[in-house]
Amino acid sequence: MSEEKRIPQHVAIIMDGNGRWAALRGKERYEGHAAGVEPVRAALRAAARHGVKYLTLYAFSTENWGRPAAEVDALMELFCRSVVDETPELVAQGVRIRMIGDRNRFSEKVQRYLAEAEARTADGRRVTLILALNYSSRDEIVRAVRGIAARVAAGEMTPGAIDERTIAAALDTAEYPDPDLIVRTSGECRLSNFLLWQASYAELLFTPVLWPDFTEEEFDRAVEEYARRDRRFGLVKR
Ligand code: IPE
Ligand code: IPE
Ligand code: MG
Repeated sequence: MSEEKRIPQHVAIIMDGNGRWAALRGKERYEGHAAGVEPVRAALRAAARHGVKYLTLYAFSTENWGRPAAEVDALMELFCRSVVDETPELVAQGVRIRMIGDRNRFSEKVQRYLAEAEARTADGRRVTLILALNYSSRDEIVRAVRGIAARVAAGEMTPGAIDERTIAAALDTAEYPDPDLIVRTSGECRLSNFLLWQASYAELLFTPVLWPDFTEEEFDRAVEEYARRDRRFGLVKR
């Protein structure tokens, strides 16, 4: 296998542990979220350095709406502020911002900020940063199935014509390759409704590091670990 092939094309990260990081320091949960912005920059720098083309970050799940309103509001503010503050640097670095998830549930203001960040970074060619916002895999699959069912009902396709490509193309991730490596911080070993379809053959890596403590070196270690994995895709070892 060539050296080049061992670099994951798409890395997805479940950024977890902000609340525990804050609690350990006697701070409010939102301070943990604020401390989670620098590690996003670090992950992006490391991804660009390694030649990773897609970096997906799980930033807000559909289930996260059930948290206390003050925390949800603080997260919304942080998303808006971050995309505005970071956009010039992202443009300079050749980063294109995209989103997955159902953005209709966000306020008009949040939707506007997100759309502007996407538009301003649209020419970025080095790394595609995909933010999973109001995302959950089951919600994504439900929306995809509704779309396919509507096409069948309209007589545009037969049920028998539905195959894996039809489903993949109806998901929010239609334009992107499946993740090669999924990293979760904070020591939890679960996917929490993240990329369930797309993760079919992803390598999974769980690290005890809390997200606010995540660094470029931590990303380097994840990429090194990925290079040691033997991906077989159900076939026999070559
Ligand atoms: C991850 O950190 C960020 C979001 C889910 C928005 P948490 O807020 O889940 O932190 P813990 O898991 O409570 O430590
Ligand atoms: C997953 O983390 C969602 C994000 C990182 C945005 P959670 O903290 O919400 O997941 P659980 O509750 O531990 O499964
Ligand atoms: Mg958590």
